[in-house]
Amino acid sequence: MGDTLSIKDKRTGRDYEVPIQAETIKAVDLRKIRVKPDDFGLMTYDPGFMNTASCRSSITFIDGDKGILLHRGYPIDQLAEHYSHLEVAYLIVCGELPDERQHRQWRGAIMAETEIPDATNRVIQSFPESDQSMGMLVSAIAALSTCYADAGKVDDPETRRRQMIRLIAKIPTLAAYIYRHQSGRPIVHPSDRSYAGNFLNMMFAGTKPNYEVHPDLEQALDVLFVLHADHEQNCSTSVMRCIGSSRPDPYLAAAGAVGALAGPLHGGANEAVLEMLEAIGSTKRIPEYIERVKKGDFRLMGFGHRVYKNYDPRARIIKRMADQVFKVTGTNPLLDIALELEQIALQDDYFKSRKLYPNVDFYSGLIYQAMGFPASMFPVLFAIGRMAGWVAQWEELIKDPEQKIARPRQIYEGPATRDVPAKAKAEASERA
Ligand code: CMC
Repeated sequence: MGDTLSIKDKRTGRDYEVPIQAETIKAVDLRKIRVKPDDFGLMTYDPGFMNTASCRSSITFIDGDKGILLHRGYPIDQLAEHYSHLEVAYLIVCGELPDERQHRQWRGAIMAETEIPDATNRVIQSFPESDQSMGMLVSAIAALSTCYADAGKVDDPETRRRQMIRLIAKIPTLAAYIYRHQSGRPIVHPSDRSYAGNFLNMMFAGTKPNYEVHPDLEQALDVLFVLHADHEQNCSTSVMRCIGSSRPDPYLAAAGAVGALAGPLHGGANEAVLEMLEAIGSTKRIPEYIERVKKGDFRLMGFGHRVYKNYDPRARIIKRMADQVFKVTGTNPLLDIALELEQIALQDDYFKSRKLYPNVDFYSGLIYQAMGFPASMFPVLFAIGRMAGWVAQWEELIKDPEQKIARPRQIYEGPATRDVPAKAKAEASERA
């Protein structure tokens, strides 16, 4: 017999043995613990899924205490240094790094799908003038669902792979077209460049005389995409899986994931960090700002993580990359505030005792801003990188025979059954 957890229910005096596998018990195994035979059985209560594994996954591993992030076993720093985003996307989706031929085919398949349907472009062009980039991206991705009649055949591997490639291929184009629409500029069609280079060109071609994609910025952006490619069961990925579990096409699931990413506690944090640094305005005002964070007036954006209780390994790489980018763009004046804010926070007991460290969003916005992206596009850049993870996790869910429609339970605290009150006579006859 394997490891078990012995439980004594003091309400009934009964003993139970619950199997333990991979340091985990199955929540449904607790259902046999009941007082009366027709009870529902014991549930677990876990708001925010603080201690609930929702799936088995072979894609990404995080050791939050040690600050380790692995994709299919490979450390993130090695991937970021030696592999392009499309190679890492292949690894995440297919399970192994591609050889030369596989890379060529994968890259070719993706770059052949970068154009978006006219109907989707018309949706983008119909948005009001606003900087709500993530709202636009949600709608644009959902609009793709109307263009591919076969996309709902989620059990067919080839159909599934076609949509996954389309999502990875088209999200930079959607993002760039949204930006061009917001800034009142004509679209620039995709061209045969690298994944990041094509995106930069679609964004910025024609915005400055003789604009050319700078190779160092192209490489830096590609690394940023790698750093955002997957992060196991985070909020947006869980939404991707949750929506996917009712088996709509992946465009609808990805649109939901983008919605989840938009929030300031998740991917919207990179935009919020910039607003915070601008609000602080000068290094002199940092101590006062920190005091207000400690009082609970607001959170230090770009700090803290549900899983990392150590320095986020992605933040470490981004911080190093900032120098490389600023050599090309000139430094971001907010960098000094960010560096000092980090130093002060890391030495402060409030942050130390809660194990709050800079996360991936703390420095990324500074780099994006230096590259010329407006703040509302920062979470969109996160979404471009994360699409590889979303589609890989979605496919893993679809193929997993243990998965079912996501349908949590609740602890009902409302009124018990009761009769509606009798209506006043006048009102009742009026309705009759
Ligand atoms: N500033 C100040 N206090 C914080 C912060 C912060 N950024 N993050 C957590 N805390 C405190 C929190 O107030 C609580 O204190 P206490 O125990 O006294 O009540 C304690 O730390 C634990 O916080 P929590 O809210 O229970 O932690 P969580 O795991 O639910 O939240 C988080 C994780 C990322 C939402 C949170 O740390 C946060 O809001 N950070 C700021 C937003 C941010 O940078 N988000 C990006 C996350 S990384 C990339 C991504 O996922 O997109």
